[in-house]
Amino acid sequence: MSLTKTFHIQTFGCQMNERDSETLAGMLTDMGYEEQEVRNDADIVIINTCSVREHADERFFGTLGQLKKIKEQRPEFIVALCGCMMQQQHIIDRVKTKFPWVDVIFGTHNIHEFPKLISALASEKERQVDVWEDGGEIVEGLPSKRKFSFKSFVNIMYGCNNFCTYCIVPFTRGRERSRRPEEILREVKALVDDGVKEVTLLGQNVNSYCGMDDAENEVTFPQLLYMLNDIEGLERIRFMTSHPKDLSPELVQAFADCEKICNHIHLPVQAGSDEILKRMNRHYTSARYLKLVDSIRAVRPGIAISTDIIVGFPGETEEDFEQTLDLCRKVGFDSAFTFIYSVRKGTPAEKYEDQVPEEVKHERFTRLVDVVNESAAARNAAMVGKVCDVLVEGSSKHGQEGMLCGRTSGFKLVDFPGDESLTGTIVKVEITEGKTFSLRGQIAE
Ligand code: SAH
Ligand code: SF4
Ligand code: F3S
Repeated sequence: MSLTKTFHIQTFGCQMNERDSETLAGMLTDMGYEEQEVRNDADIVIINTCSVREHADERFFGTLGQLKKIKEQRPEFIVALCGCMMQQQHIIDRVKTKFPWVDVIFGTHNIHEFPKLISALASEKERQVDVWEDGGEIVEGLPSKRKFSFKSFVNIMYGCNNFCTYCIVPFTRGRERSRRPEEILREVKALVDDGVKEVTLLGQNVNSYCGMDDAENEVTFPQLLYMLNDIEGLERIRFMTSHPKDLSPELVQAFADCEKICNHIHLPVQAGSDEILKRMNRHYTSARYLKLVDSIRAVRPGIAISTDIIVGFPGETEEDFEQTLDLCRKVGFDSAFTFIYSVRKGTPAEKYEDQVPEEVKHERFTRLVDVVNESAAARNAAMVGKVCDVLVEGSSKHGQEGMLCGRTSGFKLVDFPGDESLTGTIVKVEITEGKTFSLRGQIAE
């Protein structure tokens, strides 16, 4: 039996959580722990939770139930909970009463305190709960154990000020705080020195990034992109998420000027009806959204556009919903994350009276998926015959033996035959088939 202690992190939710889990893994590695693939064999399990929809909450409580048995067999097994669910008092109360064997609870604002909580648990031998209401100063210089050697997430800002009426995130991640541009540049340069070719800049609304540089001047998101575009050795820049209300002409210009910005934008529209958009507190109309799409396509013809859409927001009529379908047809999205509206405790829309019946939401959801899949398939079919730069991610998850997968600049997944040694490199691939969710190809001579 090995004497080295081990950890396992189970991550739910978005890229923010994935990035936070890399920091937690980095801290545990520094503490001398090793990663354990099999969750139930680890000495410490951390569950990094998401609360964006009810389904996410349910999955979490299911997972927690499974861990009880292990705790009974091995009382020294440590269970730690963090992430967006832990920022809500009603969830903490439920954990405390129903799952009293949980050892550590912390939140999204104090992940840097995790090592301290683990040593307090060891010395005090009692449960440690420490959740901060809001983020203080941004803590820089935390370690990170990255999942991929050739691509990386980079936080540029934390929190959200937008309070879309359906959304829990402003309550779980606090107000917007931007990292200093120098810190971001330092991190990206270090990543590039370490072999990273592609960075994805993360923020709930990157378009409202506003970082102070060392001379105390404000740096906007487009300005940050120009700075990153100059980093030698960096090949690809992605970012998410862009809120349409804050997408500036300067950002469109950056797409024209910066060749490292990938040929893809994720631009969540949420709905096609102006009335619904207003009640979602999104601050744009469908006409404005379509204009933005046109302005981006004017500088980057063929850019891939993906989106998020919610069906069944309170008060959504059949007519409102048809406007969403109509907008989807007009844009012709390359892909879309489609969601059924889920009531979130504490959000304004929770109190809206005209909630849409479940069966209506489901029926609309199916119709929406059909429309989105149709444009996705058409956009992918139009790629056939083109030669794309593909960053190879490794062996294909759903292909046969000898198949690799990678991403085009447009973020499209491509499966193609090739040797695993190409992982982490950018190769030219000719597209031979376009499917709804992926492409097939062959390495171009
Ligand atoms: N900051 C990002 C999105 C973060 S949440 C943005 O503004 O685009 C990711 C997606 O989850 C959202 O775009 C939205 O489509 C969906 N979502 C958020 N809250 C939801 C809810 N209560 N019910 C259903 N979908 C929701
Ligand atoms: Fe949620 Fe809106 Fe903020 Fe996105 S912008 S995280 S949808 S409140
Ligand atoms: Fe979920 Fe929190 Fe992200 S609620 S989607 S993990 S910011």
